[in-house]
Amino acid sequence: MCGIVGVTGSDEALKVLLEGLRRLEYRGYDSAGVAIVRADGQHVVKEKGKIAALEDACRGQDLAGSCGIAHTRWATHGAPNRINAHPHTAGPISIVHNGIIENHGALRARLEGKGHAFSSETDSEVLAHLVADFYTGDLVQAVQRALGVVEGAFGIAVTHSDHPEMIVGARKGSPLVVGVGEGVNFLASDVAAVMGHTRQVIYLDDGEMVVLTPGGVHTTTIDNEEITKEIQEITWDLDQIQKGGYQHFMLKEIFEQPQTIRDSFRGRILADSGDVKLGGIELTDWELRNIRRIIILACGTSWHAGLVGEYLLEEYAGIPVEVEYASEFRYRSPIIEPGTLCLAISQSGETIDTLEAMREAKRKGAKVLGITNVVGSTIARETECGVYIHAGPEIGVASTKAFTSQVTILGLLTLLLGRRTLISADRGAQILQELEMIPAKVQRVLDQSEAIRKIAEVYAGHRNCLYLGRGVNFPIALEGALKLKEISYIHAEGYPAAEMKHGPIALIDPEMPVVVIAIKDGSYDKIVGNVQEVRARDGKIIAIVTEGDEEIAALSDHVITIPETTNFWTPLLSVIPLQLLAYHIAVIRGEDVDQPRNLAKAVTVE
Ligand code: AGP
Repeated sequence: MCGIVGVTGSDEALKVLLEGLRRLEYRGYDSAGVAIVRADGQHVVKEKGKIAALEDACRGQDLAGSCGIAHTRWATHGAPNRINAHPHTAGPISIVHNGIIENHGALRARLEGKGHAFSSETDSEVLAHLVADFYTGDLVQAVQRALGVVEGAFGIAVTHSDHPEMIVGARKGSPLVVGVGEGVNFLASDVAAVMGHTRQVIYLDDGEMVVLTPGGVHTTTIDNEEITKEIQEITWDLDQIQKGGYQHFMLKEIFEQPQTIRDSFRGRILADSGDVKLGGIELTDWELRNIRRIIILACGTSWHAGLVGEYLLEEYAGIPVEVEYASEFRYRSPIIEPGTLCLAISQSGETIDTLEAMREAKRKGAKVLGITNVVGSTIARETECGVYIHAGPEIGVASTKAFTSQVTILGLLTLLLGRRTLISADRGAQILQELEMIPAKVQRVLDQSEAIRKIAEVYAGHRNCLYLGRGVNFPIALEGALKLKEISYIHAEGYPAAEMKHGPIALIDPEMPVVVIAIKDGSYDKIVGNVQEVRARDGKIIAIVTEGDEEIAALSDHVITIPETTNFWTPLLSVIPLQLLAYHIAVIRGEDVDQPRNLAKAVTVE
């Protein structure tokens, strides 16, 4: 999604801005731009396409200066082209904006009536003109007055050539973080953009603004009330967001999973009592025992993790669970009864649909628990209690390690709740012992990457693919299909295996690869039947089976094995081959694995 970088007080503002934009590339974008502000005016360069194109366009231009703002845009209003790219200017003012101004049409008409001329189709340019319209010598006041009349969401950075060392930032619904340096200060939509320069950051909350100069950082509300913000220390390493020798971030992140799963449960297991301690959950035993219903709010891959959570929580903790698409939940009239706990699951912690659904649940009286990866993200900050999944920065747009960490946390949460109801200490201890063996077992699946690549070679040219699973592996079938379509652009669908005969079976022919998760569990015999149904229609079968299983192997074209484990943790193993299969197919097809078309890492617009 769109990214913002700003710097003031640097000898090389342009270099810092371009470097910051590069660190935001993983978020997805279609155009980029930079504005250096000096007393002689705004010096703006914008380009469609990659940062490299912007760098080329900057070469040979007079962009010397110590203060500037930059942006990567992901089109919402207006085509992805140079004119619509940010920064947008209105005379001496330049602005970069993330989010959507909902009343931009009315504002534009009003401003045009007053003589303002617009050059782009964007809602963001309206903001630049609005600030210019209110400006009478005080930039901060002009921004405040402009934000007083806009409706919608924004994270903005604004500069004016009358104040060539000043950046004014403000947020409502779109993240902004201040990087605090010595004689130089930074503003960004994502901490990754500033961490090469400083580890001291301030996260702005909704309704807050900041004025940056080389010598200081001044925070107020948009209504101009003074506020004191805490400076926090970034603990992530810069090299954690580099590729670490892998061809793609996605592959690196798939291979990190033995470690990231371990990081998710480390320090949270009470082995002796078969119990779990989740520091961020400040609920008493009585409150935990009295949770009557759980509603899970999430999107995409996080929603699939939520579905796994539904199986676990209902079966092992005996609590009824509903898993809701966050985007749907917020627009209907959800019923929140006393005793309802909402889980907001989001890797980025910034997904607007999940954030708004969570806010709606809170308004209706639910207790909301956040399960997020990004420390300091909006969802993490707005939930009363929460659990970080500790997967480390996930750069590949297609989520992999965050998924297994989310499932790990949902498993731990199931144990926490189940130990207060249905799960005995012995059973809890067994499940936790099994969890401690999972990282090594994930490694055994990863060791088959080359064999999976060979299977990928066979199917990379196909146009469709079906994924089947039962029980807790049904969400894994959905996740496998999502991974394939996201990065290889092959049409893929996931189904509960038994549903196949109610429709999708009509699609089966020799051109249809069917990935079947056929683990030795309670529904194994039924899955064998489903595999035979595919085989009888000459479909191609890629089976994910438990090590040592000969029966399905005899019926399948290809077999990928996973080590045996308790049904409770099976999804942590069964998803790995599907991530690798999607990855290898996309690479063979020559696709941009880390930044698939039309997708963004954090979807901060509706
Ligand atoms: C995952 O591969 C996708 N890129 C996408 O479905 C993602 O999971 C979804 O947008 C939710 O993101 P979040 O976890 O950051 O809220």
